[in-house]
Amino acid sequence: MPLHFNLLTLFPEMFPGTLGHSLSGKALDQAIWGYSCINIRDYAQGVHKSVDDTPYGGGAGMVMRADVIEKALLACNDALPLPHSAKENENTPDTPLIYLSPRGKPLTQKKVQQLSRASTITLLCGRYEGVDQRILDAYNFEEISIGDYVLSGGEPAALILMDACIRLLPGVMGNTKTAPEESFSDQRDGLLEYPHYTKPALWSDAKGNEHSVPDILRSGNHAEIEKWRNLKSFEITRRVRPDLLD
Ligand code: ADE
Repeated sequence: MPLHFNLLTLFPEMFPGTLGHSLSGKALDQAIWGYSCINIRDYAQGVHKSVDDTPYGGGAGMVMRADVIEKALLACNDALPLPHSAKENENTPDTPLIYLSPRGKPLTQKKVQQLSRASTITLLCGRYEGVDQRILDAYNFEEISIGDYVLSGGEPAALILMDACIRLLPGVMGNTKTAPEESFSDQRDGLLEYPHYTKPALWSDAKGNEHSVPDILRSGNHAEIEKWRNLKSFEITRRVRPDLLD
């Protein structure tokens, strides 16, 4: 069954965005994955259709209303194509409910692998100062962050999470051997990836400097190449991300 994303957003035109191109775009055309955008504003009431209000307790900014988000969330089931089931408003491993937020747990490759096995992933994208805490509590949303920096909204974070999941779906990557060898995958023992080189073997840059390819990579000795790559992975990880060695 294809992986389906329910996207709760105030900016549906941001999707599929980058995911409509390259391998993920092809996989979308092939229905390996799909998405429904639920425009939160469609569920706002009153003449002003306001989706947000001032925070209790005071402070800057606006907070997205729980009642409006709930209506949009409940509408997800109607937007779902068959054969996806109607159990989507429960946070289960098969139907995760995720709120993208800088305060969430950091997204990891392990989490991505787990999410890519789900059938329907519902992503709530916040704007302004965030959403009323009660919607997160009432529906047991899991909060996920894509890094320790603050974006202007959850949509770019949703696109990143989706990209990471989609590329793991069977039939998306042309060369299925590539994914397990990448940084953070199990087969690299959680280390960063080794450097890559391709033709020409000797490249002269525009400043007149010559750059060759490490001899070992042209030796044809696969055992030695593997050793060299492991060493490079270790060196790069120690230099750039020593925390990963712990
Ligand atoms: N929304 C704003 N910043 C974010 C972040 N770092 N991760 C996920 N969602 C966000």
